[in-house]
Amino acid sequence: MDLAYRAELPREEFAARRQQVLAQMQPNSALLLFSEIEKRRNHDCHFSFRQDSYFWYLTGFNEPDAALLLVKTEQTEKAIVFLRPRDPLLETWNGRRLGVERAPQALEVNEAYSIDDFALHFPKMTQNLTALYHVPEYHLWGDKLIADSGVNFSQVLDWRPILSEMRLIKSPNEIRLMQQAGQITALAHIKAMQETRANRFEYEIEGDILHEFNRHGARFAAYNSIIAGGDNACILHYTENDQPLKDGELVLIDAGCEFAMYAGDITRTFPVNGKFSQAQREIYELVLKAQKRAIELLVPGNSIKQANDEVIRIKVQGLVDLGILQGDVEALIEQKAYRQFYMHGLGHWLGLDVHDVGEYGEERSRTLEVGMVITVEPGLYISQEANVPEQYRGIGVRIEDNLLMTEYGNKILTAAVPKEIEEIENLMGKK
Ligand code: GLY
Ligand code: MN
Ligand code: MN
Repeated sequence: MDLAYRAELPREEFAARRQQVLAQMQPNSALLLFSEIEKRRNHDCHFSFRQDSYFWYLTGFNEPDAALLLVKTEQTEKAIVFLRPRDPLLETWNGRRLGVERAPQALEVNEAYSIDDFALHFPKMTQNLTALYHVPEYHLWGDKLIADSGVNFSQVLDWRPILSEMRLIKSPNEIRLMQQAGQITALAHIKAMQETRANRFEYEIEGDILHEFNRHGARFAAYNSIIAGGDNACILHYTENDQPLKDGELVLIDAGCEFAMYAGDITRTFPVNGKFSQAQREIYELVLKAQKRAIELLVPGNSIKQANDEVIRIKVQGLVDLGILQGDVEALIEQKAYRQFYMHGLGHWLGLDVHDVGEYGEERSRTLEVGMVITVEPGLYISQEANVPEQYRGIGVRIEDNLLMTEYGNKILTAAVPKEIEEIENLMGKK
């Protein structure tokens, strides 16, 4: 399989999205979106630049210090970009810039201006308009630009309901990229299973995963990878990744690539030495059973909440059977007694952001629709301190896949990485 290429969305798709936004704006209004800015790591060094996902969604433009202005009047609809001007000296030091002159054609927008002249143009462009779509305090540097321009709008509207809803339903081109993100992420988890052995450090496995992402065309991880040996798995967002892996323990890996800006998000949990102990097997099988049932239920017309209610019932029954919880299953569910072992949701929207945007409804009761992409990630986390039979302490298990909602149910975008105990043991036995 040849995955080593750089994928991009066709430029027309960005222009079409802007048209869709303009169609939803009220007459005589403008919409303003700001890019991300560079973030300092230390002194004069920056973290790798990652574009703001909303800005990317409407522009496909990957530079900092830029703004998109959409203007809608009775007579016209216009897209205007503000960006950094060309600068031979700075470009020699810090990298190429698209520049004002090339921007209209490259980005298929009507006009482009230097971001340095924002205060000059913005008041003229928005004269006589009655509303501005803008989200204050989202990009402070953008708020400052608006304040410095001296323009005040009687009505400030939130663009998130428009843009987040659009982002929630993926287009065929986006689905292609997300399938690839899922596939590459799966290959990296397979690699991690093959490369794991006792006494390697968690960060070494992180490196193997990142290398596998890179090899297949994904430069970055979509979020900080979690490589959690033993009890570390009970810290949900453990990212220190600085401990050696121990014989006899499990390792939980939650890692996903970012492919052409779209996220994969897989978790697998497996034994460091390649063989599940009895107690590890019991907890793992329980989480797997819950995950498989959830996958059956996560289809258009149902909700994440419906699937999660079923997941909770399966887990509570299983924990009672293992002697980890005591009492009546219905009463334990009512009391939320499982929260000490399952303290997060079943899944989330996935897209340009790993925790993607869009309304969830109360307790994630929103009806799932064709074109949505979600995660399904039940887990059980039994810390060293838990008051449970000793053999279960220090076991944390999560199994996470990515699902596309389709006309016929769902498609697992991450199915290529094994999750059955026998498959995992076979794969690891071959290392
Ligand atoms: N990787 C973050 C999450 O699974 O939500
Ligand atoms: Mn995850
Ligand atoms: Mn997730």
